[in-house]
Amino acid sequence: MKRIRVLSELRALNRTWRCDGATVGVVPTMGALHQGHLSLVKQAKAACDRVIVTVFVNPKQFNNAEDLDKYPRTEDADAEALAPFDVDVMYLPTPDQIYPDGFSTNVSVSGVSEGLCGAHRPGHFDGVATVVAKLLLQTGADRAFFGEKDFQQLQVVKRLVRDLDIPTEIVGCATVREEDGLALSSRNVRLSETARNTAPRLYAILQDVADELRRGATAEAAIYTAKARIELAGFSEVEYLELRAEDGLTPTTVLDRPARLLVAAWLDGVRLIDNIPVAP
Ligand code: PAF
Repeated sequence: MKRIRVLSELRALNRTWRCDGATVGVVPTMGALHQGHLSLVKQAKAACDRVIVTVFVNPKQFNNAEDLDKYPRTEDADAEALAPFDVDVMYLPTPDQIYPDGFSTNVSVSGVSEGLCGAHRPGHFDGVATVVAKLLLQTGADRAFFGEKDFQQLQVVKRLVRDLDIPTEIVGCATVREEDGLALSSRNVRLSETARNTAPRLYAILQDVADELRRGATAEAAIYTAKARIELAGFSEVEYLELRAEDGLTPTTVLDRPARLLVAAWLDGVRLIDNIPVAP
Protein backbone atom coordinates (compact mmCIF):
# COMPACT_ATOMS: atom_id res chain seq x y z
CA MET A 1 0.00 0.00 0.00
CA LYS A 2 1.41 3.35 -1.08
CA ARG A 3 0.98 6.40 1.13
CA ILE A 4 0.36 9.43 -1.09
CA ARG A 5 0.08 13.00 0.17
CA VAL A 6 0.06 15.01 -3.03
CA LEU A 7 -2.74 15.15 -5.59
CA SER A 8 -0.48 15.14 -8.68
CA GLU A 9 1.01 11.81 -7.57
CA LEU A 10 -2.42 10.29 -6.99
CA ARG A 11 -3.61 11.47 -10.42
CA ALA A 12 -0.53 10.02 -12.15
CA LEU A 13 -1.12 6.61 -10.56
CA ASN A 14 -4.83 6.81 -11.34
CA ARG A 15 -4.05 7.40 -15.02
CA THR A 16 -2.06 4.14 -15.17
CA TRP A 17 -4.98 2.26 -13.57
CA ARG A 18 -7.39 3.75 -16.09
CA CYS A 19 -5.12 2.67 -18.99
CA ASP A 20 -5.41 -0.88 -17.64
CA GLY A 21 -9.21 -0.54 -17.57
CA ALA A 22 -9.36 -0.87 -13.76
CA THR A 23 -12.33 0.36 -11.72
CA VAL A 24 -11.53 2.53 -8.70
CA GLY A 25 -13.27 2.59 -5.31
CA VAL A 26 -12.74 5.10 -2.54
CA VAL A 27 -13.44 4.95 1.18
CA PRO A 28 -13.32 8.50 2.59
CA THR A 29 -12.36 8.63 6.28
CA MET A 30 -10.90 10.91 8.90
CA GLY A 31 -8.68 8.12 10.22
CA ALA A 32 -8.85 6.49 13.67
CA LEU A 33 -10.03 3.45 11.74
CA HIS A 34 -12.21 0.84 13.42
CA GLN A 35 -14.08 -2.27 12.23
CA GLY A 36 -16.84 -0.08 10.77
CA HIS A 37 -14.35 1.55 8.37
CA LEU A 38 -12.75 -1.80 7.64
CA SER A 39 -16.11 -3.25 6.60
CA LEU A 40 -16.38 -0.39 4.05
CA VAL A 41 -12.89 -1.27 2.81
CA LYS A 42 -13.91 -4.94 2.45
CA GLN A 43 -16.95 -3.96 0.40
CA ALA A 44 -14.85 -1.63 -1.76
CA LYS A 45 -12.32 -4.42 -2.40
CA ALA A 46 -15.11 -6.80 -3.42
CA ALA A 47 -16.61 -4.29 -5.88
CA CYS A 48 -13.57 -2.50 -7.40
CA ASP A 49 -10.20 -3.41 -8.91
CA ARG A 50 -8.31 -0.64 -7.11
CA VAL A 51 -9.09 0.86 -3.71
CA ILE A 52 -8.06 4.18 -2.20
CA VAL A 53 -8.68 4.97 1.48
CA THR A 54 -8.53 8.70 2.14
CA VAL A 55 -7.55 9.99 5.57
CA PHE A 56 -8.10 13.69 6.13
CA VAL A 57 -9.28 15.34 9.35
CA ASN A 58 -11.42 18.00 7.75
CA PRO A 59 -11.37 21.22 9.80
CA LYS A 60 -14.37 22.64 7.92
CA GLN A 61 -16.78 20.09 9.34
CA PHE A 62 -15.94 20.67 13.03
CA ASN A 63 -18.05 23.21 14.89
CA ASN A 64 -15.66 23.52 17.72
CA ALA A 65 -11.91 23.91 17.84
CA GLU A 66 -11.51 21.65 20.90
CA ASP A 67 -13.29 18.76 19.14
CA LEU A 68 -10.95 19.20 16.15
CA ASP A 69 -7.87 19.26 18.41
CA LYS A 70 -9.02 16.17 20.30
CA TYR A 71 -9.68 14.18 17.12
CA PRO A 72 -7.24 11.23 17.13
CA ARG A 73 -4.49 11.23 14.46
CA THR A 74 -3.22 7.66 14.20
CA GLU A 75 -1.63 7.31 10.77
CA ASP A 76 0.65 4.34 11.49
CA ALA A 77 -2.02 2.38 13.37
CA ASP A 78 -4.44 3.08 10.50
CA ALA A 79 -1.90 1.83 7.95
CA GLU A 80 -1.45 -1.31 10.05
CA ALA A 81 -5.20 -1.86 10.24
CA LEU A 82 -5.43 -1.58 6.44
CA ALA A 83 -2.50 -3.92 5.77
CA PRO A 84 -4.53 -7.18 5.57
CA PHE A 85 -6.94 -5.73 3.02
CA ASP A 86 -4.62 -5.20 0.09
CA VAL A 87 -5.61 -1.54 -0.27
CA ASP A 88 -3.72 0.18 -3.11
CA VAL A 89 -3.37 3.68 -1.74
CA MET A 90 -3.78 5.48 1.55
CA TYR A 91 -4.31 9.08 0.42
CA LEU A 92 -3.31 11.47 3.22
CA PRO A 93 -3.55 14.88 1.54
CA THR A 94 -1.69 17.70 3.24
CA PRO A 95 -4.10 20.54 4.13
CA ASP A 96 -3.01 22.65 1.13
CA GLN A 97 -3.98 19.83 -1.25
CA ILE A 98 -7.57 20.19 -0.08
CA TYR A 99 -7.75 23.87 0.87
CA PRO A 100 -5.08 25.76 -1.11
CA ASP A 101 -4.41 29.39 -0.26
CA GLY A 102 -7.38 31.56 -1.13
CA PHE A 103 -9.81 28.62 -1.18
CA SER A 104 -13.23 30.25 -1.41
CA THR A 105 -15.73 27.64 -2.53
CA ASN A 106 -18.43 26.26 -0.29
CA VAL A 107 -20.62 23.33 -1.29
CA SER A 108 -23.97 23.52 0.46
CA VAL A 109 -26.71 20.93 0.03
CA SER A 110 -30.09 22.16 1.23
CA GLY A 111 -33.08 20.01 2.22
CA VAL A 112 -31.57 16.74 3.41
CA SER A 113 -28.92 18.58 5.44
CA GLU A 114 -31.56 20.47 7.43
CA GLY A 115 -32.76 19.42 10.89
CA LEU A 116 -31.32 16.45 12.82
CA CYS A 117 -27.49 16.84 12.99
CA GLY A 118 -27.72 19.84 10.65
CA ALA A 119 -29.71 21.75 13.27
CA HIS A 120 -27.25 21.02 16.07
CA ARG A 121 -23.98 21.33 14.16
CA PRO A 122 -24.23 24.52 12.07
CA GLY A 123 -21.98 24.41 9.01
CA HIS A 124 -21.11 20.75 9.54
CA PHE A 125 -22.74 19.43 6.36
CA ASP A 126 -21.32 22.26 4.24
CA GLY A 127 -17.90 21.14 5.46
CA VAL A 128 -18.71 17.50 4.66
CA ALA A 129 -20.17 18.28 1.22
CA THR A 130 -17.21 20.49 0.30
CA VAL A 131 -14.55 17.96 1.28
CA VAL A 132 -16.41 14.96 -0.16
CA ALA A 133 -16.88 16.78 -3.50
CA LYS A 134 -13.12 17.44 -3.54
CA LEU A 135 -12.18 13.87 -2.55
CA LEU A 136 -14.45 12.34 -5.21
CA LEU A 137 -13.04 14.64 -7.88
CA GLN A 138 -9.45 14.13 -6.74
CA THR A 139 -9.70 10.34 -6.63
CA GLY A 140 -11.94 10.08 -9.74
CA ALA A 141 -13.53 7.04 -8.09
CA ASP A 142 -16.22 4.99 -9.83
CA ARG A 143 -17.70 4.06 -6.45
CA ALA A 144 -17.49 5.58 -2.97
CA PHE A 145 -18.43 3.73 0.20
CA PHE A 146 -20.10 5.39 3.20
CA GLY A 147 -21.57 3.92 6.39
CA GLU A 148 -25.28 4.13 7.13
CA LYS A 149 -24.35 5.00 10.71
CA ASP A 150 -24.07 8.60 9.45
CA PHE A 151 -27.35 8.28 7.60
CA GLN A 152 -27.95 12.00 7.10
CA GLN A 153 -24.40 12.42 5.79
CA LEU A 154 -25.05 9.57 3.32
CA GLN A 155 -28.18 11.35 2.02
CA VAL A 156 -26.26 14.64 1.71
CA VAL A 157 -23.53 12.92 -0.32
CA LYS A 158 -26.07 11.14 -2.57
CA ARG A 159 -27.81 14.43 -3.29
CA LEU A 160 -24.48 16.19 -3.87
CA VAL A 161 -23.31 13.76 -6.59
CA ARG A 162 -26.71 13.74 -8.23
CA ASP A 163 -26.99 17.54 -8.32
CA LEU A 164 -23.42 18.16 -9.48
CA ASP A 165 -23.25 15.22 -11.95
CA ILE A 166 -20.21 13.77 -10.18
CA PRO A 167 -19.80 10.38 -11.90
CA THR A 168 -19.34 8.34 -8.73
CA GLU A 169 -21.81 5.75 -7.49
CA ILE A 170 -22.45 6.22 -3.77
CA VAL A 171 -22.73 2.91 -1.93
CA GLY A 172 -24.36 2.94 1.52
CA CYS A 173 -23.11 0.15 3.82
CA ALA A 174 -24.90 -1.27 6.87
CA THR A 175 -23.87 -0.04 10.33
CA VAL A 176 -21.43 -2.34 12.13
CA ARG A 177 -22.28 -2.95 15.78
CA GLU A 178 -20.62 -4.36 18.87
CA GLU A 179 -22.18 -7.59 20.15
CA ASP A 180 -24.29 -5.59 22.58
CA GLY A 181 -25.70 -3.44 19.75
CA LEU A 182 -23.63 -0.27 20.18
CA ALA A 183 -22.87 1.22 16.74
CA LEU A 184 -19.12 1.41 16.12
CA SER A 185 -17.74 4.96 16.27
CA SER A 186 -14.35 6.56 16.84
CA ARG A 187 -15.99 8.36 19.76
CA ASN A 188 -16.76 5.16 21.71
CA VAL A 189 -13.22 5.00 23.15
CA ARG A 190 -13.95 8.27 25.00
CA LEU A 191 -16.72 6.62 27.06
CA SER A 192 -15.99 5.71 30.69
CA GLU A 193 -16.60 2.08 31.68
CA THR A 194 -20.00 2.92 33.18
CA ALA A 195 -21.02 4.96 30.16
CA ARG A 196 -19.86 2.18 27.82
CA ASN A 197 -22.26 -0.17 29.63
CA THR A 198 -25.12 2.32 29.25
CA ALA A 199 -24.45 3.22 25.59
CA PRO A 200 -26.12 0.13 23.98
CA ARG A 201 -29.44 1.23 25.54
CA LEU A 202 -29.72 3.74 22.70
CA TYR A 203 -30.00 1.01 20.06
CA ALA A 204 -32.25 -1.14 22.27
CA ILE A 205 -34.66 1.78 22.76
CA LEU A 206 -34.67 2.55 19.01
CA GLN A 207 -35.68 -1.06 18.38
CA ASP A 208 -38.49 -0.78 20.95
CA VAL A 209 -39.81 2.37 19.24
CA ALA A 210 -39.68 0.63 15.84
CA ASP A 211 -41.69 -2.31 17.29
CA GLU A 212 -44.27 0.05 18.76
CA LEU A 213 -44.62 1.90 15.44
CA ARG A 214 -45.09 -1.37 13.57
CA ARG A 215 -47.80 -2.31 16.06
CA GLY A 216 -49.62 0.93 15.22
CA ALA A 217 -48.47 3.37 17.93
CA THR A 218 -48.31 7.02 16.87
CA ALA A 219 -44.79 8.36 16.31
CA GLU A 220 -45.40 11.26 18.68
CA ALA A 221 -46.33 9.07 21.65
CA ALA A 222 -43.66 6.42 21.03
CA ILE A 223 -40.92 9.04 20.63
CA TYR A 224 -42.02 11.02 23.69
CA THR A 225 -41.75 7.94 25.92
CA ALA A 226 -38.50 6.82 24.32
CA LYS A 227 -36.79 10.18 24.96
CA ALA A 228 -37.70 9.88 28.63
CA ARG A 229 -36.34 6.31 28.72
CA ILE A 230 -33.04 7.39 27.13
CA GLU A 231 -32.59 10.09 29.78
CA LEU A 232 -33.57 7.69 32.53
CA ALA A 233 -30.92 5.24 31.24
CA GLY A 234 -28.26 7.87 32.02
CA PHE A 235 -27.93 10.02 28.90
CA SER A 236 -27.68 13.71 29.79
CA GLU A 237 -29.49 15.10 26.76
CA VAL A 238 -31.40 13.80 23.76
CA GLU A 239 -30.66 16.24 20.92
CA TYR A 240 -33.22 14.63 18.68
CA LEU A 241 -35.15 11.44 18.18
CA GLU A 242 -37.15 11.59 14.98
CA LEU A 243 -38.91 9.50 12.40
CA ARG A 244 -38.02 10.58 8.87
CA ALA A 245 -38.90 9.21 5.43
CA GLU A 246 -35.94 7.18 4.20
CA ASP A 247 -36.12 8.88 0.82
CA GLY A 248 -35.48 12.63 1.19
CA LEU A 249 -35.46 12.58 4.99
CA THR A 250 -38.72 14.53 5.28
CA PRO A 251 -40.33 14.41 8.75
CA THR A 252 -43.12 11.87 8.99
CA THR A 253 -45.53 10.78 11.70
CA VAL A 254 -47.05 7.74 10.04
CA LEU A 255 -45.44 4.58 8.81
CA ASP A 256 -46.77 4.62 5.25
CA ARG A 257 -43.38 4.22 3.48
CA PRO A 258 -39.85 3.09 4.41
CA ALA A 259 -38.60 5.32 7.19
CA ARG A 260 -35.67 5.77 9.56
CA LEU A 261 -35.61 6.46 13.25
CA LEU A 262 -32.66 8.71 13.96
CA VAL A 263 -31.23 9.74 17.30
CA ALA A 264 -28.44 11.86 18.76
CA ALA A 265 -27.83 11.91 22.50
CA TRP A 266 -25.07 12.89 24.92
CA LEU A 267 -23.54 10.40 27.31
CA ASP A 268 -20.61 11.16 29.58
CA GLY A 269 -19.68 14.23 27.48
CA VAL A 270 -19.71 12.16 24.26
CA ARG A 271 -22.23 12.75 21.48
CA LEU A 272 -23.56 9.45 20.13
CA ILE A 273 -25.71 9.05 17.03
CA ASP A 274 -27.55 6.03 15.68
CA ASN A 275 -30.41 5.13 13.36
CA ILE A 276 -32.41 2.12 12.24
CA PRO A 277 -34.74 1.42 9.32
CA VAL A 278 -38.46 1.05 10.05
CA ALA A 279 -40.50 -0.55 7.30
CA PRO A 280 -44.31 -0.31 7.28
O1 PAF B 1 -17.63 10.26 7.89
C1 PAF B 1 -16.50 10.79 7.92
O2 PAF B 1 -15.53 10.24 8.42
C2 PAF B 1 -16.33 12.18 7.31
O3 PAF B 1 -17.45 12.96 7.52
C3 PAF B 1 -15.94 12.16 5.82
C4 PAF B 1 -17.05 11.55 4.97
C5 PAF B 1 -14.67 11.37 5.63
C6 PAF B 1 -15.71 13.58 5.32
O4 PAF B 1 -14.68 14.20 6.02
